[in-house]
Amino acid sequence: MKILSIETSCDETGAAVLEKEDNKVRVISSVIASSAEFHAITGGIIPEQAARLQVQTIIPVIRHALLLSEGQKYENPNKDSVRAKKILEEKIDAIAVTHGPGLIGSLLVGVETAKTLSYVFNKPLIPVHHLLAHIFANFISPIEQNASPFLSPPFPFIGLIVSGGHTDLLYFKSVKQFEWLGGTRDDAAGEALDKIGRVLGLSYPAGPEIEERAKKITKPYIQFKSPLMNYDDFDFSFSGLKTEVMRFIQNQTGDAKRRNPLKEEVINQICYATQKAIIDVLVKKTLAAAEKFNCQTIVLGGGVSANQTLRQEFERQAKSDARNFKIFAPEKIYCTDNAAMIGAYALMNFKPVKWQEIKALPELYFE
Ligand code: KG4
Ligand code: ZN
Repeated sequence: MKILSIETSCDETGAAVLEKEDNKVRVISSVIASSAEFHAITGGIIPEQAARLQVQTIIPVIRHALLLSEGQKYENPNKDSVRAKKILEEKIDAIAVTHGPGLIGSLLVGVETAKTLSYVFNKPLIPVHHLLAHIFANFISPIEQNASPFLSPPFPFIGLIVSGGHTDLLYFKSVKQFEWLGGTRDDAAGEALDKIGRVLGLSYPAGPEIEERAKKITKPYIQFKSPLMNYDDFDFSFSGLKTEVMRFIQNQTGDAKRRNPLKEEVINQICYATQKAIIDVLVKKTLAAAEKFNCQTIVLGGGVSANQTLRQEFERQAKSDARNFKIFAPEKIYCTDNAAMIGAYALMNFKPVKWQEIKALPELYFE
């Protein structure tokens, strides 16, 4: 079974071809076009701008993924369209697409394209929940087959989704059975990193740079509070952290306009303390959920799960716990938004619907 998957929930336009063989999900090709460089100029995503660029890139990205899946080069737009069409007709068994949650304009571009291709080429169509797909990125077999066989996460497990738009904890009994345990009451973890990064003058998205700057700190001297750390629930809140960091910066610089710019060392210290405040509460509540639901396995997903320090902290605390929790996180390229994870979820939960029944759902929740 070979599937073409499409992802356009935010500022990325992704297409991928995957196959499932012997119960293993393998990525054959994955292409991503991002408008992040445009949004770096504005310091955040402008939804209309993202969608307009997606209108421009969706067809070339799909063609590119189809051609790559057959080992063909992407070169001449005229010839490419004929060859890509043939691959879609002859080699692809189904199409999967993100139908929510996300930005309405962006979702519409992907959903309407997928519906049209499904109708015109008579292929089954599978709608995919973007956030669940972040977790199921963990079921993609690695590209490099090394000596040790690939082990996908065993059920039941606790899933932590940490992205730019969401922070959610879920208990998964199986692919189809899951329960939402809690989530952020305001800003998502990635959103907090991006907003704090903006105040610090870092480029968007700020997560990776905050991580790099934090690594330079050997003697931390700033501490920020981990919000809701000592609450006995599975909720998160990160907007207070943003306010605390902004107050700290104002105290340092004398005013909010930063006429007295921060020294590099202080910026790095703030990055370290911000990242630590976020990681500490994510790890604590996720381990508490694993304890409560008697799960030995913890599965991370979403852009923030690319953070090496977060992964190391999970590993460190998991090892020191008598229960010896096992931590899973996707390969880094499958942490941030991509179409491969959409295909992976569709292959693991193959539920086609009629093309008329799929709608872009910006507020799609966990059912
Ligand atoms: O999953 P994603 O690509 O998009 C959403 O679905 O929101 O996540 C993007 C978020 C951004 O907030 C970005 O700053 C963050 O993931 N991010 C990171 C890292 N790489 C990306 N945060 C911390 N450390 C990283 N290495
Ligand atoms: Zn995402």
